[in-house]
Amino acid sequence: DMPRPYKAAFTRPPKLKPDSVSYESDGTPVNHYTLAMRQAQAQILPTKKTGILGYNGIFPGPTIELDQGTKAVVHMRNRMPKNHPLWNHHLLAASTHLHGSASLPQYDGYASDVIQPGFCKDYHYPNFQPARTLWYHDHGVHFTAQNVYSGLAAVYVMHDQVERELLPQGDFDVPLVVSDAMFAANGSLAYDDREHSGLWGDIILVNGKPWPVMKVQPRVYRFRVLNASISRSYRFALSSGQPFHIVGTDGGLVPATQSVKNFRQGMAERYEVLIDFSKYTPGTRVELKNLSNDNNRDYDHTNKVMRFDVVAAAPDMKSDPKWNHIPTKLVDSEVMSLTDDDADEKRRFRLEKDGVVEPWTFNGVTWEDVIASNFKLASADPALNSVEVWEIENKSGGWFHPVHIHLVDFRVLSRNGKAPFAWERGPKDVVYVGENEKVDLVMRFGPHEGRYMVHCHNLPHEDHSMMFQFRVGLGED
Ligand code: C2O
Ligand code: CU
Repeated sequence: DMPRPYKAAFTRPPKLKPDSVSYESDGTPVNHYTLAMRQAQAQILPTKKTGILGYNGIFPGPTIELDQGTKAVVHMRNRMPKNHPLWNHHLLAASTHLHGSASLPQYDGYASDVIQPGFCKDYHYPNFQPARTLWYHDHGVHFTAQNVYSGLAAVYVMHDQVERELLPQGDFDVPLVVSDAMFAANGSLAYDDREHSGLWGDIILVNGKPWPVMKVQPRVYRFRVLNASISRSYRFALSSGQPFHIVGTDGGLVPATQSVKNFRQGMAERYEVLIDFSKYTPGTRVELKNLSNDNNRDYDHTNKVMRFDVVAAAPDMKSDPKWNHIPTKLVDSEVMSLTDDDADEKRRFRLEKDGVVEPWTFNGVTWEDVIASNFKLASADPALNSVEVWEIENKSGGWFHPVHIHLVDFRVLSRNGKAPFAWERGPKDVVYVGENEKVDLVMRFGPHEGRYMVHCHNLPHEDHSMMFQFRVGLGED
């Protein structure tokens, strides 16, 4: 008895409270958190429990929410079993990456910098960047896909003053962690990817529930959509035909709201969208659909995501106009003012498929090559604070690749020689490079020196071994 769409109630992941707050000598607050990665049983399906790996044993993990200017230290414990429950031969070493944070290299979840079962590590997060939707997830070398698929993923929200003035907050600021999965008859997660090409599940989950139904009031809501699938991309649309108002991308608010009827979202991308339910009478149902993209594998119900059921407004609601509108002008960030002319260097990368063992490459380089070089091999050596344009071209035939560059926010300058899509006109850290597409990105490399990763966020591709590193400010030694 597999789940059917629109039977489950929508839930939000719980928020993680800090254990304590300390202050640095200049008064900067530091939140201290503890998380344990554990094996647990989760209620994802209506009648069967599913074995997962989760931060504090939940799927998805607890949300960390704080303000810009508050630092965080996350004490991360690996309490998982020695052997992977689904891949028995494999030691369950983990590495945590806060995706969207300009963290120092030693706290960035470098793939080979793993925590062994029974050990722990303190991750320090600076939180000086503008408000944004981040997420933390596993990055353990060669097993990221299985670990994230098993549940090691969670939202991390950073607020700032500007964003608190402009956009819905609290109950009307809602994370949507969208993922897909396959289940065996006994309720356990199934994983089938023999060619290291990807896994496309037949069940769509939002915040860990299959196709849930959320009750909404007739007003404007803000959704922070995270695609936490390991291989599936989505093209979201509303059954009512109304637009999404895109107000934020991976790296925070966009300069100007973009209203679109649908948008394509690859793995690890985040889009903050406003949906206006104010003209609907109670009883109206609005479905969030998935129109599908090339290079995915679709099943009977993968065209559905969740449903919004409009209910009567709470009595105090209509008298509270705060945030209950669609702002048109948002934030001009530094990265969105960069152009070609600012670039000190231009580099070209080609994504290719070559061979069967470790088939996925960037300019012919794989993470295996980086390991073999004893981590000396770097595909780019930008100077600290220099600006570069990177052209990324997908010549892998029949595949799409969401490419993530650690450390930086970038601006998509062009897509196939034309303007970028309306929804990607904001600060980004993942770019969707569809089949035969070519994108130009511009970014400033800083504020930290050190080695950082670049990889495809189709996680089976990343694991096999579509990843390289760049070194900021370290020259070519
Ligand atoms: Cu979302 Cu290198 O990861
Ligand atoms: Cu890929």
